[in-house]
Amino acid sequence: MSVTPRNHLDSDFVRSCFPTFAEPLAAKTAFFENAGGSYVAGDVLDKLMHFYRVNKVQPYGYSDIVRSAGEQMDAGRQTMADLLGVPAHTVTLGPSTTQNFNTLAQACTSLVTSDKEVIVTEQDHESNIGTWERLCQRTGATLRIWPADASTGELHIDDFEGLLSQSTAVVCLTHSSNIVGTINPVEAVIALCRQNGTRVIVDGVSFAPHQWPDIPTLQPDAYCFSTYKTYATHLGVMYTSEDFAQALDPQCHYFNQPFPQKRLDAAGPDHAAIAALDGLGDYFQKSHAHHLGQSDATLYEKTQQISALMHAHETELCTQLLEAVNLLPLRVIGKTDSRGREANVALTSATHTSKAMSEALAVNDICAGHGHFYALRLLEKAGIKNTDDGVLRISFSHYNTPEDVDRVIQVLNDLH
Ligand SMILES: Cc1ncc(COP(=O)(O)O)c(C=O)c1O
Repeated sequence: MSVTPRNHLDSDFVRSCFPTFAEPLAAKTAFFENAGGSYVAGDVLDKLMHFYRVNKVQPYGYSDIVRSAGEQMDAGRQTMADLLGVPAHTVTLGPSTTQNFNTLAQACTSLVTSDKEVIVTEQDHESNIGTWERLCQRTGATLRIWPADASTGELHIDDFEGLLSQSTAVVCLTHSSNIVGTINPVEAVIALCRQNGTRVIVDGVSFAPHQWPDIPTLQPDAYCFSTYKTYATHLGVMYTSEDFAQALDPQCHYFNQPFPQKRLDAAGPDHAAIAALDGLGDYFQKSHAHHLGQSDATLYEKTQQISALMHAHETELCTQLLEAVNLLPLRVIGKTDSRGREANVALTSATHTSKAMSEALAVNDICAGHGHFYALRLLEKAGIKNTDDGVLRISFSHYNTPEDVDRVIQVLNDLH
């Protein structure tokens, strides 16, 4: 049956792919805590359940039960590589991005010698700052901080250019911050670093749930994100380019060093969680077929197309929220319109604590948390005195609806 291509995301279809919405708690909740972790697509849940029910064994070997467990894990790994459009051996699966950054920093020990420098940003989640700071302390290298703008929380490329030098070994930056939401000029950073022989490590944790990463186009040295925020199981995905991987110190058992996909596997993450990633491929396939019809495109191409629809939908919702918020005594940390940003809005109120706003939303069955969300340095720079109270964060996913946003606006209007 042929499908007329849609240029809008079909929310009813999308929500039908997430079994959580059939549960009473999720059915009554407008969920805006997606940056903390998204709901899980049904296809992922099915694969997870299947593995735990049928194959919860030490995988790989000769009997059917262990062989098929290994096959499911291989399928999960391959699907993640296909979604990203990169070779499977360039993808390391770890328990989280925090763990992957720790492993990567450790693996950079030989590159970050005492005469070298590392640049981190003041806007990043602590997982992409502290581990580099500790590496520099160990090796005697110099840590340089790309400052965030005190009034907007944004990063300015001119400041970066002033920091980059012949000594810069590694630059670590977020694709978009979990507070500010602005899409950072990662392409420009990579172009500058290429001329300099500097490695670029991108934190895509906050970006990937809103726009699926396009690694073949971006060509970073390393790109990390977390699948529990991209509608799947709790894992960290770490891409490392083949060339960068050669320069890194292996972090695996010595006998695994000849296997490229094992060299940065320091943790041995949950088998079932890896197998379930195959379901994410099913979800994107299904969504592509529903919205755009049958196609011979690769999974990577299809995912980029569907991601564009998802992003456009979220951008409309974000505009709806920001237009209302701009009329209230609220400070948005970052852009006050949705151009060039993700649908992830952090704000403070002139009249209420962030906790009070979060509680008022919760009374109305709207979930949006408050705090510093591990971007403590950024909140301090932005002049937020009580960082435990922090910001109210309203983070969207593609399954949110205009009605969800209306409910948030109603509560914020009533409060102010
Ligand atoms: C921007 C950003 N980077 C890194 C992380 C750390 O990811 P993980 O929880 O997988 O360790 C988070 C977690 O929320 C995040 O928001």
